[in-house]
Amino acid sequence: MKGFPNDFIWGVSTSSAQIEGGYLDDGRTPSIWDVADKSRIKNGENCHVACDHYHRYKEDIALMKKLGVKSYRFSLSWSRIISKEGGVNQKGLAFYSSLIDELKKNGIEPMVTLYHWDLPWWIEAKYQGWMNRKIVDLFNEYVKVVVDAFSDRVKYWLTFNEPQCFLMNGYVTCVHAPFKRVIFRFSRLLRHFMLANKRAVDTIRAYAKTKPLIGLSFGSGAYIPENENDPKSVEKARHDSFYKGMGAMNNRLYFDPVLSGKGASSYLIYHVSNRFAKKIKTDFDFMAINNYEAFNYSPWGNGKVDKSNLKTNSLDWVIDGRTLYWTSKFIYERYKLPLIITENGMCDNDVLIDGEVNDEKRIAFMDEYIHYVKKAVEDGIDIRGYHYWSFLDNFEWAEGYEPRFGLVYVDYETLDRTIKKSGYHYSEIIKTNGEKL
Ligand code: BGC
Repeated sequence: MKGFPNDFIWGVSTSSAQIEGGYLDDGRTPSIWDVADKSRIKNGENCHVACDHYHRYKEDIALMKKLGVKSYRFSLSWSRIISKEGGVNQKGLAFYSSLIDELKKNGIEPMVTLYHWDLPWWIEAKYQGWMNRKIVDLFNEYVKVVVDAFSDRVKYWLTFNEPQCFLMNGYVTCVHAPFKRVIFRFSRLLRHFMLANKRAVDTIRAYAKTKPLIGLSFGSGAYIPENENDPKSVEKARHDSFYKGMGAMNNRLYFDPVLSGKGASSYLIYHVSNRFAKKIKTDFDFMAINNYEAFNYSPWGNGKVDKSNLKTNSLDWVIDGRTLYWTSKFIYERYKLPLIITENGMCDNDVLIDGEVNDEKRIAFMDEYIHYVKKAVEDGIDIRGYHYWSFLDNFEWAEGYEPRFGLVYVDYETLDRTIKKSGYHYSEIIKTNGEKL
């Protein structure tokens, strides 16, 4: 195939905790991120106001429309909807209902993530969150409420965002909420997530009012072959992408059980049995991929890497667009599901000068990464869409507000929005269906 298909889904991505704010508005209760101790987040910041999207969603959707965005991937705040045990917060549902209506009115397809890390605090306080098997039932009750409320208008569902991150960072490396270190109980947490995912998909399929398309946004990556033209080198990279370091820990440990019903283990202590994997194997309509840095450059993937001569973003992640090509290729060939890229982007310390943000570096980033998406599509890899992360500058978890990922600049004093030069550039890519890349 030459170029992108005509119905390619060009989108942008966000998540509730990172943009919404309004953390106690209209009956919402805090999430584990709202109550995080100041010392855990850079500059003692918090996400109580964030981009105030809760009050400005119409303005934000108007900006998406202006850019010509076709799909908006966002997440629901569980504690806005189920603000206490057994209680549905109708005002929380009403917010998302209006958001979805506004998107549809503007011709933008909603893509809903059910869990993007902002666990309700009441669940953490009473049940210890993902540590307790009870979470599988609680999550399922929430999913049923959401499906009843929105599936007349929502077709695309993502059960989870990057389980690898919220489990590893939240319960092993201790850098994300709820900031625990329970290394030897990790396999149990993994099973709870897998059971919750399977039940969620069954519930969506059983109750959705319009035929759903369901996926899961996995944090995904691959090793770029040392020599991309040498078949042996390609085979090695393919093997390593599922068996070595990050390949085993980040990819196979999650993908094989969930997508193929096969057990997997990593570092000897993390383990999912074949018997359990069969139980939680999930039939997805597509696999969603979030991809930033190739495993070649990660300390978990390749030991210590000298980055001094490499291009990096402001968090020191290496910029190398080939990662999108090899990640898509290896994953597609192994699991044979259509792919949708639900996150890819870069952060910088952007500045607003005379009403403009001249983010040439992000423009170059996009051209490079999307070029490799196009190459993958042309090589027969079934990629249906690409979502840039992020639509707005936002709350970057433990890194606070400093790293700016957005196509739209947010002034955190005034909360004014300004479309960056890269935003206009993306708009042009969408309009020309990536023709020039
Ligand atoms: C997460 C986002 C995050 C982004 C940049 C992804 O892992 O899903 O929430 O902001 O990466 O770090």
